[in-house]
Amino acid sequence: MEIMFPYILGLAKGAAIGITIAGIFGLVLIVICIYVKYFQKKEEEKVKLPQTSIALSTQDGNASCSGEYETSGSSVPGTGSTAGLTGIMVAKSTEFSYQELAKATNNFSLDHKIGQGGFGAVYYAELRGEKTAIKKMDVQASTEFLCELKVLTHVHHLNLVRLIGYCVEGSLFLVYEHIDNGNLGEYLHGIGREPLPWSSRVQIALDSARGLEYIHEHTVPVYIHRDVKSANILIDKNLRGKVADFGLTKLIEVGNSTLHTRLVGTFGYMPPEYAQYGDVSPKIDVYAFGVVLYELISAKNAILKTGESVAESKGLVVLFEEALNQIDPLEGIRKLVDPRLKENYPIDSVLKMVELARGCTRENPLLRPNMRSIVVALMTLSSPTEDCYYDTSYENQSLINILSVR
Ligand SMILES: Nc1ncnc2c1ncn2[C@@H]1O[C@H](COP(=O)(O)OP(=O)(O)OP(=O)(O)O)[C@@H](O)[C@H]1O
Ligand SMILES: [Mg+2]
Repeated sequence: MEIMFPYILGLAKGAAIGITIAGIFGLVLIVICIYVKYFQKKEEEKVKLPQTSIALSTQDGNASCSGEYETSGSSVPGTGSTAGLTGIMVAKSTEFSYQELAKATNNFSLDHKIGQGGFGAVYYAELRGEKTAIKKMDVQASTEFLCELKVLTHVHHLNLVRLIGYCVEGSLFLVYEHIDNGNLGEYLHGIGREPLPWSSRVQIALDSARGLEYIHEHTVPVYIHRDVKSANILIDKNLRGKVADFGLTKLIEVGNSTLHTRLVGTFGYMPPEYAQYGDVSPKIDVYAFGVVLYELISAKNAILKTGESVAESKGLVVLFEEALNQIDPLEGIRKLVDPRLKENYPIDSVLKMVELARGCTRENPLLRPNMRSIVVALMTLSSPTEDCYYDTSYENQSLINILSVR
């Protein structure tokens, strides 16, 4: 018995150690199990995000464009590069159903119609608490087309009319933010609008130049407007200008292959290299912008009828050129200034705008300034120190500048 006791004691000790080790081992096993389960869940979540993204893109009819779309989204100021999720939410919010649009426009009734352009009618509607203008177009939406549309909804700038969204059921509907005061052409050539004071004209020119500079230089991809004209510059409630329809020509081309060979634009605003040879560069927008500047000065249409036949039409570029070629060019320009301004304009500022318009409409596209230099020139024009109404020395210097570019 005396011999057995230490033996039994040893056995109990061994069992205790064994149980402790088994306990520790079990605990470690449980921790590992919990860790593995947690890790698996995380991995599943990681996989789920792109799957959702692809599903949505496919639902839009275009899985392949989601990459381009997100890249562009991240380049937009304000949205940051917070990857897929923001992109997904934006994509969803830009789509409208036909039902929603029809309801908001009372079935596209005439009393909702606010305009008519070459591609279709424009209707006013209040959608999701926002005032909108819906452009109804007879264009079929292809895959590339939808891609292009999505990119366009990401281009945001204070001086560009924002594309809020679209609907592709039946026809194509583009939903834009509504701009309160119609277009610049109506202010200059229409009736029922107060004449714009000179300072507002300079401001609108600067606003539009900034909008165009943005699409020429800062968007991904960059855009050439190809239909710059006073009807495509909209005026908001503070008399500030916003460029409308940017990216539309590209959209139309993408949607309709036969248009590749057709000239898109408006007569009176097309430079010679585009009208004759179809050469497209940002300088075609610069030329058209020059014509808009002449419109702001004179309030005349881009093309004027001087007689009955077609041959008796004259463009604003030629009209101003003739005025500058007169024996007294200053008198020639004064005669072209919008009579509704009466004497309320600083002639030096007008002459500087003529000088700029002349540069923009030069025959050789390489000699035309780019939109960035135009913005700078208009910024100096709009500064208050330029309000030297009757300082003849300024007047003479500006005239010398204009005449020396010939
Ligand atoms: N976002 C908008 N907010 C307010 N009015 C708008 C808006 N978009 C267009 N309009 C009005 O509808 C009119 C027609 O526009 P639309 O762009 O269809 O034709 P357009 O610019 O006159 O000619 P084009 O077809 O050659 O572009 C505009 O002139 C403008 O008065
Ligand atoms: Mg338009």
